Amino acid sequence: MRNQSISLFSLFSSIPYLFLVLNCYGGLIVNGDIDISNLCKNVTRVDPTENYEFCVSALEANPLSKTSDIFGLGVISIELCSSNATYTHTYIDGILKDGKPEPERVRACLQDCIEFYSTALEEVQAAMKAFKGKDYETAGSQLYDALIDTDTCKIGFTELGVDFPLKKHDYDFFQLIGISLSIIKIILG
Ligand SMILES: *[C@@H]1O[C@H](CO)[C@@H](O)[C@H](O)[C@H]1NC(C)=O
Ligand SMILES: *[C@@H]1O[C@H](CO)[C@@H](O)[C@H](O)[C@H]1NC(C)=O
Repeated sequence: MRNQSISLFSLFSSIPYLFLVLNCYGGLIVNGDIDISNLCKNVTRVDPTENYEFCVSALEANPLSKTSDIFGLGVISIELCSSNATYTHTYIDGILKDGKPEPERVRACLQDCIEFYSTALEEVQAAMKAFKGKDYETAGSQLYDALIDTDTCKIGFTELGVDFPLKKHDYDFFQLIGISLSIIKIILG
């Protein structure tokens, strides 16, 4: 995960530069319905840390994806980021409320994570708004910020030397953000 974050960081750290570099990906303005497996292959090409099977099953879970164009699939993927972050926020809240005697420093870390996931959720919602308004640069940078926030939650546990209790949530969110960012890059050609 650390390596993935670093490679994403180098991809996304400078958004204007990023979108320049990605011009070499070639103009892929696609009209009409999109073949999900084809799109997910392109997603893994744009971002090699993406998992092809994850991409296909995440997008296919929404029945609308079969009749969506690339813009519709962008909306679907950002919605998945949003529902995932919402669920993770609720999940952490649950751990804290069920009162299991976690060591105080773990509880403190989880409290921080709640904040990070709240912020990430706001950023994903801002990304959705920007995406729908076709402001793809803003959408991309908001999604990237959301990724950094959830990564900061994870780093708290790494620094404590405690096993990260949100591994699967974190992985799923990371993958979903990567799909959305890749779709944005494909749209921008
Ligand atoms: C995937 O990439 C190929 C090759 O660049 C392109 O022909 C195809 O239209 C792309 N498909 C999607 C769904 O992005
Ligand atoms: C997050 O998204 C993935 C892919 O859509 C899904 O498999 C997973 O169940 C979601 N997790 C939650 C907690 O919603």
